[in-house]
Amino acid sequence: MTDFLDWLADAARVRAERGLVRSTPITEPGLLDLAGNDYLGLRTHPRIIAGAVDAARAFGGGAGASRLVTGTLAIHAELEAALAELTGSPAGLVFSTGYAANLAAVTALTDADTLLVTDAHVHASLVDGARLSRAARVVARHNDLAHVAELLAGRAQRRAVVVVESVYSVLGDAAPLDDLVAVCAEQGAVLIIDEAHALGVVGERGEGMAAGLGITDNPDVVLTLTLSKSLASQGGAVLAHGAVRDHLVNSARSFIYDTGLAPAAAGAALAALGVLAEEPGLPNQVRANAAALADAIGVDRPAGAVLSRPMPGPDEALAAVAHARDNGLRIGCFRPPSTPDGISRIRLTAHADHTDLTDALAVLREITGG
Ligand SMILES: Cc1ncc(COP(=O)(O)O)c(C=O)c1O
Repeated sequence: MTDFLDWLADAARVRAERGLVRSTPITEPGLLDLAGNDYLGLRTHPRIIAGAVDAARAFGGGAGASRLVTGTLAIHAELEAALAELTGSPAGLVFSTGYAANLAAVTALTDADTLLVTDAHVHASLVDGARLSRAARVVARHNDLAHVAELLAGRAQRRAVVVVESVYSVLGDAAPLDDLVAVCAEQGAVLIIDEAHALGVVGERGEGMAAGLGITDNPDVVLTLTLSKSLASQGGAVLAHGAVRDHLVNSARSFIYDTGLAPAAAGAALAALGVLAEEPGLPNQVRANAAALADAIGVDRPAGAVLSRPMPGPDEALAAVAHARDNGLRIGCFRPPSTPDGISRIRLTAHADHTDLTDALAVLREITGG
């Protein structure tokens, strides 16, 4: 054993003692997926696959370089325009992942004279952006407007940026966006909204929550999103005022020092936007399925496609996942420390392509005693 292998073995032992061993098993085929984020069920849609293939044929396997060198392709501009159009945003910038988009927004839109207020439940990519930034960071209690206002009002920094998700990824609950915009306006703060779990699901056309509230043309509002959930592809984007786009192009390290979004990913996302436009019933179908799942597991109907049900403990959560699997369903499970509130829970996601949930709902009722 080298010192390095000893160190790795120690870390593995600690993980095992804490019951926190993670692994990457190949996803079992043949189960009804109530765990993934392909909310519109488009990942294997022939048009999405054709979009990827056509884009790879036209532009190659990769973008070949950073967007600032030779990696900006016509398909990037087309995708940025389409995303801006759907969300009613002035401008868009695509990234190789949603993670990179979040790092860019949080690091490049703050400086040493900024107070960054992040909701306690925001995604790890936003937390990492805060850690990488030069701003001072404070955490606001989840969805607690008064706390956000208090933190903003008490700041010593000249600037402030508040970071939230419109639909939260683990609990599936919605942020009070309207009120947050008002608090930010009163306190002179910018609001960054991660729409990862709202795009394609919330709004009549799947335009997301911010667009539905008419706040996407507000220069002090910045949206981030991923192409990897409803848009069934890979990649991310920031949608905002043109001045924000210019600033990110010039200063966001996860944009400048990263190879441009792969053409196939851009082509697949564009095709998904096309399907969404031509099949306007899809977002409604996801929400109807989400409502049926919510009723079956005894929780409130969610704003998006994510449902979360607290379980008595980690063992019960794991037993629920095993029972679901034995009955043909794949559901998710979160246990501390991966839950923002320390509560073990099962997590379910609704999908537009699930046309008959009768059997699934019966199994879920068994699991949750409904
Ligand atoms: C809320 C949220 N933001 C950002 C991301 C990161 O997006 P991507 O997977 O495209 O990197 C995710 C999950 O993947 C997410 O759930």
